[in-house]
Amino acid sequence: MRVRRCGVVMLEPAERVEFDLARLAGGGSGLYTTIDWIAFAPHTGRSFTLTAAEAIALGGLSPSEWIEADGIPADVLESLLAHTLLIEEGSEADARDQRVRGTDWRPTAAVMHFASRWRAVETEELQQQFIDNYQDDLLDHLGPPPPAVRERSDADARIALPKASRSALDALLDGRVTCRNFDRDRALSKADFAAVLYRAFGARAVDDYAPGVELLKKGVPSAGGLHPTEAYLLVRRVDGVEPGLYHYHPVHHALEPIRAMPLDEATALARRFVGAQPYLLDAQAFVIPTSRFRRNFWKYRNHAKSYRALILDIGHLSQTLYLAATELGLAAFITAAVNEVDIEEAFGLDPLEEGPLAVTGFGIRAAAKTEVEFDPLHAVWKDA
Ligand SMILES: Cc1cc2nc3c(=O)[nH]c(=O)nc-3n(C[C@H](O)[C@H](O)[C@H](O)COP(=O)(O)O)c2cc1C
Repeated sequence: MRVRRCGVVMLEPAERVEFDLARLAGGGSGLYTTIDWIAFAPHTGRSFTLTAAEAIALGGLSPSEWIEADGIPADVLESLLAHTLLIEEGSEADARDQRVRGTDWRPTAAVMHFASRWRAVETEELQQQFIDNYQDDLLDHLGPPPPAVRERSDADARIALPKASRSALDALLDGRVTCRNFDRDRALSKADFAAVLYRAFGARAVDDYAPGVELLKKGVPSAGGLHPTEAYLLVRRVDGVEPGLYHYHPVHHALEPIRAMPLDEATALARRFVGAQPYLLDAQAFVIPTSRFRRNFWKYRNHAKSYRALILDIGHLSQTLYLAATELGLAAFITAAVNEVDIEEAFGLDPLEEGPLAVTGFGIRAAAKTEVEFDPLHAVWKDA
């Protein structure tokens, strides 16, 4: 059998603190520490605890050259093969590993991406644990945050800048307030739904840049002009659009149906997508910006900045979606606390090809506020 190391793996020497009664009886705290070797490989999407012998063996094996497995101690070989950290030539793991290699990920970025995906996490539970841990003295425990503003000169050294006269953009920016109070009874008009999608995600022009290289011109910037971000939709309440899952076609400005479902099911799925944050679930439409890695990495191969560029692209899309919604008197949100694995499964996305990095949504704001929103300008909530 010929083997080689998987293309990307990170080994973390993680310290574990344990308690031993015998040590306590012998004097001291009873606490002792050990080092666990934690291996994380993006093609598995999981981490494994290795023995020191396995970690050393893995570190000494080539990721490029196939070698006969004879020289590797049997127990080490068995464990590393089981975790697919060591790849057998021609195996299923080999095919999967090749796909990670073929995507031209920067290894550290691949580890970051695949190690931060969630499945079925409920953020309210995490928040409650946090509150329970700190009880009432959260601020005592954490101390104050760093100041809101970093000041680099004395007040009298500052050069005052002229104030811009108030514009339509100012009104739009002031009115952009993350919504956690959507109207649970009303449906969004198809026209408004379509307008927000077009302004955030639609292609305004298609340019045949070079043979085989088509570039889209959008209202947002994108690294290399490649626009690797797709818009997948979970529609709840839009007039004339059945609840369900869709993909938005940015050139044809059209919905590509993936799966229709009853409203209840769409809401339950939305709950899963946003880590069970209840105040987001009445949004009429959810948009899941999803990066097609290869579209960006085609140009920025194994590049130190490419993954960062994917995330930055989504920031631009999200803000544009917020402003497009605000202009129409609608409201929007974004959340990074999302269950990527559940989203991938629902839309049938191959995580080695494309990955959701956030969930945004928009719709009609409720008349009354029950959940907190940050509106110190009273731009939305006049009396609150
Ligand atoms: C990257 C990112 C992640 C966010 N995640 C959440 C979230 O998980 N839940 C939520 O309710 N709001 C989330 N927000 C919204 C922020 O809480 C909100 O922007 C902030 O409170 C300021 O309010 P504003 O957007 O109305 O100015 C997120 C915003 C950003 C940019």
